Amino acid sequence: MSDFSSWAARIQARAESTLDALLPPEDVAPARLHAAMRYAILGGGKRVRPLLAHGAGELFGAAAERVDLAAAAVEMIHAYSLIHDDMPCMDDDDLRRGKPSCHKQFDDATALLAGDALQSLAFQTLAQPGLCGDAARQTRMIHLLATASGSRGMAGGQAIDLASVGLNLSQQELEFMHIHKTGALIRAAVLLGAHCADAPDAEKLRAADRYAKNIGLAFQVVDDILDAEADTVTLGKTAGKDAKNNKPTYVTILGLARAREFAAELHADAVADIAPFGDAGRRLTQLADFITGRSF
Ligand code: IPE
Ligand code: IPE
Ligand code: MG
Ligand code: MG
Ligand code: MG
Repeated sequence: MSDFSSWAARIQARAESTLDALLPPEDVAPARLHAAMRYAILGGGKRVRPLLAHGAGELFGAAAERVDLAAAAVEMIHAYSLIHDDMPCMDDDDLRRGKPSCHKQFDDATALLAGDALQSLAFQTLAQPGLCGDAARQTRMIHLLATASGSRGMAGGQAIDLASVGLNLSQQELEFMHIHKTGALIRAAVLLGAHCADAPDAEKLRAADRYAKNIGLAFQVVDDILDAEADTVTLGKTAGKDAKNNKPTYVTILGLARAREFAAELHADAVADIAPFGDAGRRLTQLADFITGRSF
């Protein structure tokens, strides 16, 4: 196992056990809702956002125990976004992380509520006393995640996505959509990891932010490419769904070859943003490689 793979496996295990501890047990009422929340978030996913939060935490010298909570909060928002994204009123997808989507395993109303409750639990987690030594900075962190999740962030991007079905967007319009629906939460993961440090340096924060914006967009460009290229078993979600749903993507707008080049350009920019920090930025550099080089 490479040094990066063993680091990533360790962070993924930390993410799993933190989430497991934060989520209400399945036998606590309302049991069906708690079962749906646990079903949707535990035991699957690449945990890219927790990995990014920890990578940034290492760059800024944050305590890993604090980053665990910030990372869990972002992953809860992400899991909620996936539950709702798969519902019949959105992408209508039956498969997620290699198993039936939450609304298929349970029912629409339970899936809707599981998403809602995961969102609340994310903010409950981030507002936990002692998450951060400085109450003012903790408030900024809560503000940051709220902005990244709401109508000026992920939810707004999802609204644009649904309103764009069948449209021929310009590259600028597509970029606006992707930055919101996916980029915003990736950016929040990096910045929240950084803010877990006691006194994050402002200049370094700006560099981490540039990195996060580049890699956040690259992430969705690669997601679009994989939707067109990979198979359902590898992805753990239905391949070819964007074309089927008539969604404008980087593949439809640029074509596969140019979309791949664009992802490589964003990767190079992200790596350059972190290069000045040398070895301290090594995990974020490796994560940029992982995000653009992944096959699922
Ligand atoms: C999929 O995200 C949805 C997008 C934002 C593109 P991921 O590819 O991170 O999904 P998991 O968490 O690994 O399942
Ligand atoms: C989803 O984008 C983004 C969010 C869930 C916020 P997609 O619809 O492309 O994600 P997948 O491909 O279903 O994972
Ligand atoms: Mg979608
Ligand atoms: Mg989808
Ligand atoms: Mg997709």
